[in-house]
Formats: sequence, C-alpha cells, structure tokens
Amino acid sequence: MDTEHELQATVRAMVQEGKGILAADESLPTISKRFAPFGIESTEESRRSYRSLLFSTPGMEDCVSGVILFEETLRQRDDAGRLLPELLSSKGVVPGVKVDRGTIPLSHSPGDKITEGLDGLAARLRQYRSEGAKFAKWREVYGIGAKNPSALAVLANAEVLARYAAICQEEGIVPIVEPEVLIDGEHDMGRCLDVTEAVLHAVFHALERHKVVLEHIVLKPSMVLPGKDFGEKASPEEVAEATVRVLRRAVPAAVPSINFLSGGQGPEEATANLNAMNALFPGQPWALSFSYGRALQQPALAAWAGRRENAGKMQQAFLRRAQLNGLARRGSYLSGMEKE
Ligand code: 13P
Repeated sequence: MDTEHELQATVRAMVQEGKGILAADESLPTISKRFAPFGIESTEESRRSYRSLLFSTPGMEDCVSGVILFEETLRQRDDAGRLLPELLSSKGVVPGVKVDRGTIPLSHSPGDKITEGLDGLAARLRQYRSEGAKFAKWREVYGIGAKNPSALAVLANAEVLARYAAICQEEGIVPIVEPEVLIDGEHDMGRCLDVTEAVLHAVFHALERHKVVLEHIVLKPSMVLPGKDFGEKASPEEVAEATVRVLRRAVPAAVPSINFLSGGQGPEEATANLNAMNALFPGQPWALSFSYGRALQQPALAAWAGRRENAGKMQQAFLRRAQLNGLARRGSYLSGMEKE
C-alpha cells in the first residue's frame, strides 16, 4: 500500500460510529501520579499488568477504535506472552503511540511552555511503526493567565505541532494533533473560548504551511470550559454550544474527526458534555468523539487498586465508561444510565 492509502486506511479504522480512542499513554511521572491515590506503586510490572488487563477487557472493541500507548507499552506483553500492540490489533483496535517528549518553559515567554521531541522523530517513527504503531500523538499545552498564552507561545507551539504532523504523514503514521488549553485557573468560559479559538486558528495555519493533509489527521482539543477555580461549572448545553461554535469557526471540514481530551473533567461530566454536542448539534462536518485518559480510566483504577482479585471489577468499570462514551458519541447517552 502506498503511504496515502495507508494513512487513509488508518483514519478509517480510527474513526468509527459509536467508537472513540482510549488514551493510555501516561508518561512515567504521570502514571505514578494516577496510581498514587490508590496506593499502587508504579513499576514496569505494575504498569504492564494494569495496561494488559485494561486492553484485554472483553467487548471494549465495540466502543474503542484505537489506543494511545506509551513507548514502553509497545514492547510489553500480556500474561499469555502476546505483545500488547498485537493483542489490540487482534481485536481490531488500532495501536498508536505518544511521541512527544514532554514540555519545557518557552524561552522569552514567562509562564508558557513548548513541547520537545522533534529531533530524530522520523527515525523513532520508523521504529514504532515496525513495532505495530499506526498513529501517533503529540501534545502542546497552553495555560491561561493574565498574560498567557502569549502571541509568541501560540505561534511557536503551532509550528512545532505542524512539524510533528508533517513528519508523521511522511512516515505513513496518522498524527493526532493535540493542542490542550488547560482547565487550571480562575478565568471564565469566554476567556477559554477566545484562547481556544486563537490557538486553533494558529494550529490550522501552521498545518497548512507545512502541507499537512487535513483528511489524514485527528484533532484532539480541549473543550471550552470555565477555569477549574472560576467558582461555577457550566452545564453540558453551555459547554456544547461554546465548543461547537469555536470548532465551526476554526476547524476545516476536511478534518475527519475531533476526539476530545478530558483534561480534568470528571468521568460523568466528560461523557455528558460530549453527548450534549452530538445531541444538540448533529450533522457537523467532522465526527465528535473522545480520546479520554482520566475520564475513561479513573473508575477502573479505583476498582483495581493494584490487586489481582479485582481484575474483573476493573474491566467492568472500564467497559462501562467506554460504553457510555460510545453512546455519547451518538448523542444517545442519558445521565440516568449512570445509576443502572
Ligand atoms: P486526559 O483525558 O486525562 O486529559 O488525557 C488525554 C491525553 O491524552 C492527554 O495528553
């Protein structure tokens, strides 16, 4: 298959009615943070054991089309000795990999960040591809403050994201393009809307400059929300209205799918917000789906607590969230289902 057809086939497999993506690509410091509240120590074996349980959940393939892996996980095996990317592929779930190397402060722009990892990226992608990865993920972060993100941060981050996406496509890997406007802060929803719109405009201009084929990317943005410390939460209807408004202004119709991150929303909140978008604003040019990390895994982690005997309960908790988000992707989730 030539590269273009390969990218197209991967996008088709990633974007399916009633399905979304599981983000299980927590870096070493992040997974330690996720494990800590449940008293689980992060070791190579605990990470392997947790993730292989998660991926072997029966039925997850009905609502999960792809999984983002951390590099280490590409080379880990389930209890039967099967490589985890192979386990996923055998269920028709597309394996992908996080390829950025995290953030550092952006020079001359106090309070802003930039993501590292472009040097040697093409060679790394070739290696990941030989290990089964068909798509990649790269995250840029934008904190909201009185002076942040600066105009420099918006431009510099967009440029890096576009470089990454172009390199991926050249290597036959579908790039998930993730500009995350952080939920931290006391700002209102209007400020988040303005920042998100500026960020997305800059990202799509940069993608165009770098000749990235929009049909062969997946966008992974944050939703438009009031800051975590604003004092009041927005209703799913308000979140859906503001988020779809910004996306319609900034995201070209050629993009096949928008898969949101959960970014600190609670599991039920993230499901209700996605559902409201699909229920209230159907027929958008792109699919509106999920690529949640915490919102899919938190209840599963709590049920597991690092104990072998909780494996069944853990898989049940994960499957439940995946199914409810699968319904939200169709706009047919009801909050009453949480109690069933
Ligand atoms: P959250 O859904 O927990 O924000 O994680 C998604 C992700 O992949 C962040 O990079």
